[in-house]
Amino acid sequence: LLLCTAIEQNFPALKNDNVLKAARGEPVDRVPVWVMRQAGRYLPEFQEVRKEHDFFTVCRTPELACEVTMQPLRRFDLDASIIFSDILVIPQAFGMTVEMHPGVGPVFPEPLQTPADLAKLKPEGAVERLSYVGDAITMMRHMLDGKVPLLGFTGAPWTLMGYMIEGGGSKTMSKAKAWLKNYTDDSKKLLDMLASSIVDYLEMQVKAGAQMVQVFESSAEHLSKEEFLTWCAPYLKDIASKLKQRLSEQNIPLVPMTIFAKGAGHSLAEQATFGYDVISLDWTVDPEEARKQVGPNITLQGNLDPQDLYKTPEEIRELATTMVRKFGKTRYIANLGHGITPQTPIVSMEVFVDAVHKAL
Ligand code: CP3
Repeated sequence: LLLCTAIEQNFPALKNDNVLKAARGEPVDRVPVWVMRQAGRYLPEFQEVRKEHDFFTVCRTPELACEVTMQPLRRFDLDASIIFSDILVIPQAFGMTVEMHPGVGPVFPEPLQTPADLAKLKPEGAVERLSYVGDAITMMRHMLDGKVPLLGFTGAPWTLMGYMIEGGGSKTMSKAKAWLKNYTDDSKKLLDMLASSIVDYLEMQVKAGAQMVQVFESSAEHLSKEEFLTWCAPYLKDIASKLKQRLSEQNIPLVPMTIFAKGAGHSLAEQATFGYDVISLDWTVDPEEARKQVGPNITLQGNLDPQDLYKTPEEIRELATTMVRKFGKTRYIANLGHGITPQTPIVSMEVFVDAVHKAL
């Protein structure tokens, strides 16, 4: 694994590095754009693959993961690719069973119920059990032939803890929040365990060829500002500083890091101190207000409401153009404010990507 650094793998030269330039605050040829869940069910060719293969089989089979990662790039003039996987592969690697039920989402048949269940988790060796993600990343770097950068990603500690305790998606996170209140020390233990594995996992992804990484704290939306600063902030900071330290020690070039804390628009100034290069915004945040909050040295990403992609092409073009003009051409990566949803018309994506590129 140590020898498997990106430098030694002879990857094809990058032709479009606008996403990386934007993340570093360098001038771009055009405003870069990609979309969360850009490989997904709104694409008929993705549905075809899913008819034949279970969701986690696609994640675990590099050829299939690469094929679906490639699908949106064949259709749209995107500026980045994101490796096909899921945030829930970490709980799986800890030994938990996770199933993906069509129309329902992820299901954990045996979620964590009490702190005694923490003893069943197996964080040691987890990153080795996730080597298939590294294999997919390396294969994908070759398949991309330098067309656009390849992003890696992970779930953040609180978001993963939520799924592990709730046993799936939850409208309230009531069980996970009860842990924070009633089992405070055990919650910290679990969050620390996750943060530590996340650093190992991101290090492995970078060594395998990930050129930028995004940390998804999607369930921040369930927390108050005070709770976010207590239960998310320290771990998110830890992940950024430890990954950077880990890579520096091995003379591996740092990659830009993005934090997407959905629903944490209340803490943008604080997020700007977490050690990330890019802050990804949901659609509730005003671009100009966000820039004021984070200052000039952070790149912003986002933030069109995914539901706006159900409007007419004319309306989508107008909304995307206004959005890009508000963010401006420096330190900006266009995206949605959350993942694209399954019924989105293909033409909406075409119009969105084109409008971003033509806005400035
Ligand atoms: O962005 C990409 O194209 C990369 C792939 C990606 C997936 N999941 C594939 C996926 C990424 C980055 C994720 C992240 C993820 N997974 C998050 C964080 C981002 C977010 O949406 O908040 C979360 C919370 C999960 C957990 C998860 N996976 C849920 C809640 C669901 C069900 C909801 C849904 O959209 O169905 C999934 C399933 C999932 N992950 C699908 C895809 C394409 C659809 C399932 C299928 O194909 O059957």
